[in-house]
Amino acid sequence: MLTPDELAALDGDGVTGGLPNRAYTSEEFLAAEREALFTTTWTCVGHACRVPEPGDLRPVDLLGVPLVLVRGTAGDVAVFHNVCRHRGNQLVWEACSVGDDVSCPYHGWTYGLDGALLATPHVGGWGTHRVDGLDRADHGLRRVRSAVWLDLVFVDLSGTAPPFDEHIAPLQARVDALASPAEFARLRPAATHGSATIEFAGNWKLCAENNLEAYHLPWVHPGLNSVSRLRDHEHLEPDVAFAGQRTTDYDHTLVTDRLLPAFDGWPDRIAEYPTLYPNVFLGLQRDHFWTRILEPVSAGTTRDHLQVYYLGEAADDDGFDEARAQRLTAWLEVFEEDVGVVAGLQRGRSSPSFDGGLFTPVMDEPSRHFSRWVAARLASG
Ligand code: FES
Ligand SMILES: [Fe+2]
Repeated sequence: MLTPDELAALDGDGVTGGLPNRAYTSEEFLAAEREALFTTTWTCVGHACRVPEPGDLRPVDLLGVPLVLVRGTAGDVAVFHNVCRHRGNQLVWEACSVGDDVSCPYHGWTYGLDGALLATPHVGGWGTHRVDGLDRADHGLRRVRSAVWLDLVFVDLSGTAPPFDEHIAPLQARVDALASPAEFARLRPAATHGSATIEFAGNWKLCAENNLEAYHLPWVHPGLNSVSRLRDHEHLEPDVAFAGQRTTDYDHTLVTDRLLPAFDGWPDRIAEYPTLYPNVFLGLQRDHFWTRILEPVSAGTTRDHLQVYYLGEAADDDGFDEARAQRLTAWLEVFEEDVGVVAGLQRGRSSPSFDGGLFTPVMDEPSRHFSRWVAARLASG
């Protein structure tokens, strides 16, 4: 998908080029990314808290591939291809609670929460529910390799990516340096003012490249920059699959009237913003945590699913409702400011005068790291 010259443009330590326009505007390019990026590494497809109870199902779409998240009877979250094994009808169309099993709306074939094919009504003729040559045990829903980490549900459609624990280990180490696993286990999804969907009129990579750097803070986010200044930001040491930035002067007393409980042991005034490739943004603050999952809808459209978490009772106690509302409002203002930027970046990719632009070696470094990851996967895919 990229020519040798285009790949070479990203090389070097100094000022380099970026990806060509068609990487952001072409549906064929996005289709190639699906094969080379999204289906061959651990890609996030949803928040586990959106299927809170056993029997909860939620369909998701991974670049045209229909999947379904299922909360099983033991409380685990599994992911299946959302396709009936009979004649290929999409099984689940909207989030729902089904009890112990789910039936296909076409001919009523019924699957358990573990994917097993349980019933094939009248398949052998009216009143006969079995037929020669059809062994139900062979035709359960196709399970997708999946993992849940910090409430994020990841899939490896290829089945060949390295083990998830190995994949996430470098980012896990960053998280562990902020607070203990016991502290993270206290996080709960906000019962009110906890989620939003943000629509970007831009390619998913522009959302990521923008999120990776803090350089734009003074111009795009003057409000945020007044409490979390560019001068106090630094880049995270990048790893293979993530990069990002952090601030050393996050003041958790500024946004909410009532102080939210904080993580025990959190390094004072640190807040970190890693981007986990390909499609997760994390916001790690001493008094709350959020994740954003990018869903590429088309080459020029991206949906961003935000979920906010708080510690213990701060997540659902009515006394913190106003604070949760203030937090969400403040973040959505920031993210909406980025909506305008991403739309502008996408417009720029329509100009024949633009040739990938410039990644400068200091302020644009995390964004370039991501672009190089994309390019490398396309080149090897
Ligand atoms: S396609 Fe699902 S039961 Fe026939
Ligand atoms: Fe921004």
